[in-house]
Amino acid sequence: MASEVVPIVQLSGVRIERGGRAILRDVSLSVAPGSITAVLGPSGCGKSTLLAALTGELRPVAGSVQLFGQAIPQRQRALLELRKRMGVLLQGNGLLTDLSVAENVELPLRTHTDLPPPLRQQLVRMKLNAVGLLAAADAWPRELSGGMARRVALARALALDPPLMLYDEPLTGLDPIATGVIMELIARLNHSLGLTSIIVSHHVHETLAICDQVIVLANAGVVFAGTPAQLHASTDPLLRQFLDGQPDGPIPFDAAPRARSA
Ligand SMILES: Nc1ncnc2c1ncn2[C@@H]1O[C@H](COP(=O)(O)OP(=O)(O)OP(=O)(O)O)[C@@H](O)[C@H]1O
Ligand SMILES: [Mg+2]
Repeated sequence: MASEVVPIVQLSGVRIERGGRAILRDVSLSVAPGSITAVLGPSGCGKSTLLAALTGELRPVAGSVQLFGQAIPQRQRALLELRKRMGVLLQGNGLLTDLSVAENVELPLRTHTDLPPPLRQQLVRMKLNAVGLLAAADAWPRELSGGMARRVALARALALDPPLMLYDEPLTGLDPIATGVIMELIARLNHSLGLTSIIVSHHVHETLAICDQVIVLANAGVVFAGTPAQLHASTDPLLRQFLDGQPDGPIPFDAAPRARSA
């Protein structure tokens, strides 16, 4: 008998409203353990909203969100425990400027564990080593390039060894070289540490290059779910418009049409 693999993330029929307006409608998706999923879509389509539903920050008004095979808990304490199992890299790096690189990475360990300082520092060195920045441990955030700062934020997101990593626009503001470094790092960490990753991005081609599954959001719903090869082969006009970066087509690029239909 084949054993069922429990998805790390499972959404079914999720509806999320903000300010009385449906931002996401009837969203269903499943993320397999060990995979990298890209969530793509034009600006304002609800990508960050989807991540907020995964962290429990936003609650769906309909449908269900399951992480690690369990519904997101209602109680604050249980929710905080669950959040320790998710590493989140937000669009801004969120590094504290008055702490060194090592102190920034140590912060989650200080806040959420009782580990003695020597052990914490050893873990910090391991995380910095994993992102190739051990030599920058004593630097200040202001001394880092954009790409280095993003890697430090990544090391900090990994501090508690979360099995699930969520990335919101990890490439914003990076030059092409730093972009390549970050994407390679996300893929390598996912596979070497046995993580599961969800990358929200509007950098279509860079993200498709490393993902196993693609979800495209548009018009408040999922318009595609499949492999990168299936997406590339699609002849759907909406998907072609998005993939080929055409300015005109079925995806509305201002919020007004969607606001009327919500
Ligand atoms: N706090 C809020 N209250 C009401 N509406 C909001 C709020 N935050 C976002 N929205 C709306 O929700 C929609 C989706 O926003 P979201 O940030 O999820 O989009 P996104 O796909 O992440 O966009 P981007 O690519 O620009 O980051 C937008 O129309 C936005 O105006
Ligand atoms: Mg966003």
